[in-house]
Amino acid sequence: MPGTQYTASLMENQRDIYGEDRLFNRPVEVPVRDVYVPPGGPPQGIAPSRDIFPSMGEENIYRMCRDFYTELEQTDIRPMFPDDMDAASRRIAAFLIGLLGGPPVYQKLYGPPMMRARHLNTRINEQARQTWLAAFRRVLERADDRYGMPEEHLPGFLAFLDGFSAWMVNEKSASGPGDSVT
Ligand code: HEM
Repeated sequence: MPGTQYTASLMENQRDIYGEDRLFNRPVEVPVRDVYVPPGGPPQGIAPSRDIFPSMGEENIYRMCRDFYTELEQTDIRPMFPDDMDAASRRIAAFLIGLLGGPPVYQKLYGPPMMRARHLNTRINEQARQTWLAAFRRVLERADDRYGMPEEHLPGFLAFLDGFSAWMVNEKSASGPGDSVT
């Protein structure tokens, strides 16, 4: 039935009553709708170099993600995001820290990444993806100077963002079946 909600569960790290970190199920409301599944399936072999983290360090990654979310503030996909963009930018930073070769901060705080599942309660079509990518590309124009991302790793990181963002698309654009996910 359109509009019906079902509840999915995501594992999340929380403190129990004894102050210990434990994984709990966090219920997530996912609206029932036609979810678009990109035909290629999850991207393979696109992970960025794990040598990036040792050059950048955590602070630069948090800064890059803060700047990225500031860019997103100026776009028409801003309403998709929560009010607290600073907190949201720290979630993607936590994920990128681990991916780029640092400690698994995201997993420690929130459990298994399951990124596509975590994006299902946001309607993401190809247009939204292009806006998201363009904002990240603008930020990465200053990758080396401002964030210490080694220039030789930039193409690999951009290719990762391109491939992985395609996997986050879960709705067809109004433009219909020709909606290419490149
Ligand atoms: C296709 C374009 C994308 C759009 C429009 C998009 C949009 C969003 C939105 C609206 C949220 C919820 C905000 C929040 O509460 O944090 C979110 C969360 C998140 N996104 Fe994306 N996203 C995209 C691609 C990506 C990609 C490629 C990555 C990884 C490189 C990513 C990583 C994350 C992370 C780590 C979170 C936090 C998830 C959580 O803990 O609940 N996103 N994204």
